[in-house]
Amino acid sequence: MSFDLTAATPAAPAVADDGVWLACIECGEQFAPFSAIRYTCDHCDGLLEVRYADPPTFDDFEGRGVWRYAAGLPFAEGVTLPEGDTPLHRVPRLEESVGVDTLRIKHEGMNPTGSFKDRGMTVGVRVARELGVDRLACASTGNTSAALAAYGGRAGMATLVLLPAGKVAAGKIAQAALHDARILEVDGNFDDCLDIVQNLAARGEVYLLNSLNPFRLEGQKTIGFEILEAFRDDYGRFPDRIVLPVGNAGNTAALYKCFRELVQSGALDPEQVPKLTGVQAEGAAPMVEAVQEGNDTVRRWDDVETIATAIRIGNPVNAPKALPGIRNTGGTAVAVSDEEITDAQRTLAREGVGVEPASAASVAGLRKLRDSGVVDADEDVVCLTTGHLLKDPDAAFAAGNKPESVPNDTDEILTYLAEN
Ligand code: F0G
Repeated sequence: MSFDLTAATPAAPAVADDGVWLACIECGEQFAPFSAIRYTCDHCDGLLEVRYADPPTFDDFEGRGVWRYAAGLPFAEGVTLPEGDTPLHRVPRLEESVGVDTLRIKHEGMNPTGSFKDRGMTVGVRVARELGVDRLACASTGNTSAALAAYGGRAGMATLVLLPAGKVAAGKIAQAALHDARILEVDGNFDDCLDIVQNLAARGEVYLLNSLNPFRLEGQKTIGFEILEAFRDDYGRFPDRIVLPVGNAGNTAALYKCFRELVQSGALDPEQVPKLTGVQAEGAAPMVEAVQEGNDTVRRWDDVETIATAIRIGNPVNAPKALPGIRNTGGTAVAVSDEEITDAQRTLAREGVGVEPASAASVAGLRKLRDSGVVDADEDVVCLTTGHLLKDPDAAFAAGNKPESVPNDTDEILTYLAEN
């Protein structure tokens, strides 16, 4: 079906609004995009995705940031702070020690609220405005709540966030609090919070802005456009592989959608599509389990634990979109230990790139796949780092150097430095 990498561009159905509509990825049912609020298919409850009669080519892009890619988005502009245009760092020492031809780090922690979630929110909150809703909500391991609070605030809308109590990094709660979200701490994990917020949305209490909302993923697919353009500008080719941390698998789904649309428009050949490679923490790895066992569905893990709290998720709701993305691009998935994540976080930081633990999982996963020979030495690889170091100051303190107490005296400090 159209989830194939080489499927033709579908013709616009009667329900399309200006060449944009929603389609169920399971039964194919099509819906008008903005006439009613819906998150899943009315008929089979399958995931929905946004479809376009005219998918974009690289020539259609102009301007900066997420809205540079408006030709591939449902609107020409959104509620912006602005977002996107993140750096694609060179990391020569890491590249050498991992042992690949090219390694670049796409640092999504450089977005306005410090994570890639801003790309989804600039579009999602624009759609919320179109639909005329007044209260926005999400379940979150932290970053989505920070982004929702900021973009909701920008749009003048009330925001409600449900967080797993005791499992969200300090920086993220601080952001949600100051950007004026109402914060509910639930005695449960992220997956429980998502169940509840879906119930609230089904009862019409809130507009859901988790990545189940197909419009969020539209914004996030611009990460793919940016990587492909920047890599091509630097090297005259596209990367072989993109490695990213996986939680709910929204970003994996979004990148796959970016590639499919560029293939549909003829801007990218199917063999130029980078291999999507997902990384999870060993204590929260249901997607890795499904990929490695060759399953078509993902088993929900009820007990999840990892230092990378952003991806402490046992029920990746976007798996039906993300699994085909990993398989059809020739990618794979791998689990890494908390220790490997912390090592990677430290290594990145020593090369000047400050990321939170979940982000470092991408680099830890690449190293593991290179060591086991799954990734070849001649590959061009981009690792995605999804959130900023300051999101999780406790993890940074634990992984980094400890401050040393010294007297208030230059000579004594020199003596101390000489002796220690
Ligand atoms: N990295 C970071 C820093 C995240 O915050 C998340 C997800 C992911 C990776 C995984 O992305 O869900 O698209 O596979 N954070 C969500 C949140 C769940 O609530 O902030 P995914």
